[in-house]
Amino acid sequence: MNPTLELIEARTSTRAYAPAPVTGEDRAAVLHAAMRAPTAGNQMLYTILEIADQGLKDRLAVLCDDQPFVARAPWVLVFLADWQKWMDLFGVAGVDALPGVPQGVTPGLGDFLMACSDALIAAQTAVLAAESLGIGSCYIGDVLENGETVAELLRLPRYTVPVAMLCFGRPKVQGRPTPHYEKHMVHRDGYRCLDEMALREVSDDLDGLHAPRGYREGIANTAQDVYARKFTAEFSVEMNRSAAWWLRRWTGEGDAD
Ligand SMILES: Cc1cc2nc3c(=O)[nH]c(=O)nc-3n(C[C@H](O)[C@H](O)[C@H](O)COP(=O)(O)O)c2cc1C
Repeated sequence: MNPTLELIEARTSTRAYAPAPVTGEDRAAVLHAAMRAPTAGNQMLYTILEIADQGLKDRLAVLCDDQPFVARAPWVLVFLADWQKWMDLFGVAGVDALPGVPQGVTPGLGDFLMACSDALIAAQTAVLAAESLGIGSCYIGDVLENGETVAELLRLPRYTVPVAMLCFGRPKVQGRPTPHYEKHMVHRDGYRCLDEMALREVSDDLDGLHAPRGYREGIANTAQDVYARKFTAEFSVEMNRSAAWWLRRWTGEGDAD
């Protein structure tokens, strides 16, 4: 394995931090690496928000499904899908004087998805850059929740959506890589719905990873655990509600006040 593959192999989410700091030099290197990530049309359709204020971290820890380690993280970044800056740039660039092009166009859902891709690719590039400096990280997907409050707290204008939050810090203990299931993850030339035998193989693979740590009472396998503990959980209901709000705000369809 080469050093890059070794780095990827050893990465695991970090949620507890050593006192050693993430220095200004580390931060600059990680941010620079993030901004070297590929980006649709080289438009850099994202903005990175550094959450330096402890009060903001505390609020985000609560708003993101009550995860106290967020407040303890030495360095927190929120990755925004961002078309606002282009809309503002169009506003000062004289696009209204262009002959023969549509006017008053606003970013659509395709533009939104491209910006999400940009933001997430930059985020994952930051993860790997940090890892190379001995700095661990953990995504906080729950940053999609409580959209109305998060938008106000972080002063997010209409064409921005927080698609990922990352908590960084030097790991308190070097965690072992989390095993990931790999059965039927790669399909060739077209999607293939898994038949019952393949689903059993996936299920066995998952149970091989998770059963040794034990399930809650009444839960017999990983799929049941995911269904009860994640898919139908309160935080998922809130995330789906809030995501719909972010989308209504972006598209202007429906009521997103
Ligand atoms: C989109 C996304 C959202 C996540 N959200 C959270 C989160 O809110 N809280 C948390 O502790 N971990 C979160 N994680 C981390 C995952 O739980 C973790 O990546 C997964 O269990 C695999 O473990 P590993 O990162 O150690 O390989 C998230 C990861 C991703 C990619």
